[in-house]
Amino acid sequence: MNIPFPIKSTIDARRSTRSYKMTEVDAEIMKSLKAFAEFLPVPFEHDVLIRFFKARETKTLYMTMKSPPDNAAFIAKTDPLSISKTGFAGELFILFAQSKGLSTCWYGHYKLAELERLMPHLENAEQLKGSKMGYGYSKGECSGKRAICVTPLGYHEENGLRLLDRVMKKTVSFKRKEIKELLTDPHDFVKLPDDILYALDLGRKAPSAMNSQMWRFAFEDHFNTIAVSMPPGYKHLKWEHPNVDIGICACHVWLGLVDKGHDPKVSVNEDGGRAFWRISL
Ligand SMILES: Cc1cc2nc3c(=O)[nH]c(=O)nc-3n(C[C@H](O)[C@H](O)[C@H](O)COP(=O)(O)O)c2cc1C
Repeated sequence: MNIPFPIKSTIDARRSTRSYKMTEVDAEIMKSLKAFAEFLPVPFEHDVLIRFFKARETKTLYMTMKSPPDNAAFIAKTDPLSISKTGFAGELFILFAQSKGLSTCWYGHYKLAELERLMPHLENAEQLKGSKMGYGYSKGECSGKRAICVTPLGYHEENGLRLLDRVMKKTVSFKRKEIKELLTDPHDFVKLPDDILYALDLGRKAPSAMNSQMWRFAFEDHFNTIAVSMPPGYKHLKWEHPNVDIGICACHVWLGLVDKGHDPKVSVNEDGGRAFWRISL
């Protein structure tokens, strides 16, 4: 698989940005984003769609910050496998945008009625009602395809860094669990080959809603397969769709092995409501 950006440095540079200059994305860069979104080099079949939309300078969509002019929505069905594939494909797109000098932020909680106004995509009016207090797409699985998450696309306004962002950066954003804490069996740590450790290190740096880092890693085939999933029964009080985040983490793990010159096989299955990714050498 040919990834058109430097993998580790792009992952290390990405941060969620919640303060933007009110300027449009450069036309050439926008062209390359659209071309990338069209063919999305992911190692599995999917029907995730990336749609671009314009927004005005208001706080209506994201609530905690003003929308920049350019934004994108990740659209898919809402079953566990589709939303997890959305996480994987969406993160590859986010990293591509990062490599083009753009800032982004995954948003799972956004004003759905405003998104529908800016980018009509729902199949019927009932779908609007399913969203929790009008924010995000719904509490659980529902019919049809719809926006799962959205992201601003633009240029960081450093002077506009709000207090919340500063606090998030210091307390939440940069902190990641160590690999050992993320293993289903911590005794595996000393047995992990170097390339697997490298992939897990990129995996642990994945973004997750409220930085929950709900992913856990297990191994099969004498450490030739990495399994990525959330723990059985995992629930978060404020984020209803952690399978999205599991797909994001699986994307980073896959990229880690690609970076080491492998051509890993990737599969994803559902296990009791959990997306269960296997990435094999
Ligand atoms: C699926 C998903 C949904 C998210 N939703 C929101 C959101 O609604 N609002 C927000 O401010 N940040 C949101 N975030 C950003 C996370 O808070 C952020 O990724 C995390 O704190 C780690 O920080 P970092 O991205 O800077 O590494 C979301 C992230 C993910 C992966």
